[in-house]
Amino acid sequence: MQRSELQQLLQPISAFLDCATPTGWLEQAARPESLPTLLRDHLICELKAAQSAMYLIRRYAVDASSADALLQWLKPFEDFTYRQQGDWRSLAGLSLKKSMIPQASSRYAQDLIDKMVLLIKEELHHFYQVLEVMADNGIAYEKTTSSRYAKGLLRHVRTYEPAAMVDKLICGAYIEARSCERFAKLAPLLPLKIADFYISLLRSEARHYQDYLTLAQQIADSDISDRVAFFGKVEAGLITTPDPDFKFHSGCPLTVISDQTAA
Ligand SMILES: [Fe+2]
Ligand SMILES: [Fe+2]
Repeated sequence: MQRSELQQLLQPISAFLDCATPTGWLEQAARPESLPTLLRDHLICELKAAQSAMYLIRRYAVDASSADALLQWLKPFEDFTYRQQGDWRSLAGLSLKKSMIPQASSRYAQDLIDKMVLLIKEELHHFYQVLEVMADNGIAYEKTTSSRYAKGLLRHVRTYEPAAMVDKLICGAYIEARSCERFAKLAPLLPLKIADFYISLLRSEARHYQDYLTLAQQIADSDISDRVAFFGKVEAGLITTPDPDFKFHSGCPLTVISDQTAA
């Protein structure tokens, strides 16, 4: 990807996000000793992205037999990640075995299914690609705790419909957009093969954030800009405030803050 193409992809994402990733986080992420944590957490982020898209279509868009087929699709990935069962190579190319049947009552079900099934496919492919990068770099998979980031966004989701769904979709848009921004900023700081992989992820993640936003606006009764702005501020708070836990979506690392204070 050319530098100008990268800038073009990143421009709407940077405009959408309320803040850029702090230099402190990038400095920490560029340290070789951070790579195992970064990749392990990135791996889990890919699975979580697939899981939340699956949750949305199971909850809001498909009939019961389609919902079961979705669970079966993700199960081997979840067994590997949470129960450390199975060989990671056996996850290559596992696909959805059944076509999805929309809930008859839902006017947006088909669009939600189309966008989210494609998104799940892509996230599971990314999941496998992260495992390949880890294997290339001699990094074994280990379970890690999740960062405060997604929880910090989702705790503001309203509790009634369709507002809850609209908010979840907006959170999804921010998570995707932030991932995209971090892939682009990290690429020049990482070993070449990982950099190329991160650049290759940009295009699909850029589309994911737009898909989430489009769906949120389709489902909402009224204009969503206030909610988008609200979550933009919450998201920027999670990214710019001190965070003792270094992860793919963490805030400003304390080690870097204390290094700077000491200097
Ligand atoms: Fe992804
Ligand atoms: Fe994504």
